[in-house]
Amino acid sequence: MADFRKLFAKAKHIVIISGAGVSAESGVPTFRGAGGYWRKWKAQDLATPQAFARNPSQVWEFYHYRREVVQSKEPNAGHLAIAECEARLGRQGRRVAVITQNIDELHRKAGTKNLLEIHGLQNLKLKMPESQWRNFPGGCEEAACGGLLRPHVVWFGENLDPAILEEAGRELALCDLCLVVGTSSVVYPAAMFAPQVSARGVPVAEFNIEATPAASTFSCFDGRKESIKPR
Ligand code: APR
Repeated sequence: MADFRKLFAKAKHIVIISGAGVSAESGVPTFRGAGGYWRKWKAQDLATPQAFARNPSQVWEFYHYRREVVQSKEPNAGHLAIAECEARLGRQGRRVAVITQNIDELHRKAGTKNLLEIHGLQNLKLKMPESQWRNFPGGCEEAACGGLLRPHVVWFGENLDPAILEEAGRELALCDLCLVVGTSSVVYPAAMFAPQVSARGVPVAEFNIEATPAASTFSCFDGRKESIKPR
């Protein structure tokens, strides 16, 4: 931990890559592991364009469930610490950027400003005028143009918004410290962000309750062993 503190103290540009684990203590289920099921389906099997084409009501119902879950949740100490870190370092002329795979908006709720939500936002509908959508029995929704509305999230097999990806690339290319928080690091392209940064010789610190495959590819702070490991 002492080594990490030293790196942290001198870092001028920190990128924090986060995943579902950062919201776990707020009560939002993660995607993999025990919480990753909705009814009998795996989240990954519903978050696809194919699942939506096959059964849009079911996919809407799944996202409706996740929205309901998230609406009742509050940012936890992790989200708040990340937001406070950005504000505090910002006052010192240092930069913190958060690249999150989460669609729950808890980073935003906690006060993080410099935020890239690379997998979209599940509550985008709330930002649309009501005249542009209407509810249908079964949870499906139709846009004013007559097409089916879909959640504004990136599904498996889909590309990320190139503009957001480009912005993430800029942050990753410039950072001098990278924190990987609560992600299994198995979903691309997010899974390659930390290894890319590490390949430039930039230290990467992983905060997770279990070992992930990505950790072996970067120099990292391992929360369980509390040391910085060389690559
Ligand atoms: N603190 C830190 N890490 C935690 C905690 C915690 N309290 N609880 C769980 N974790 C870790 C788990 O050990 C796991 O490595 O968080 C990680 C969660 O992994 P996933 O469920 O795979 O979530 P994530 O990495 O965000 O998934 C990536 O996959 O399904 C898609 O689009 C979805 O954005 C998601 C993407």
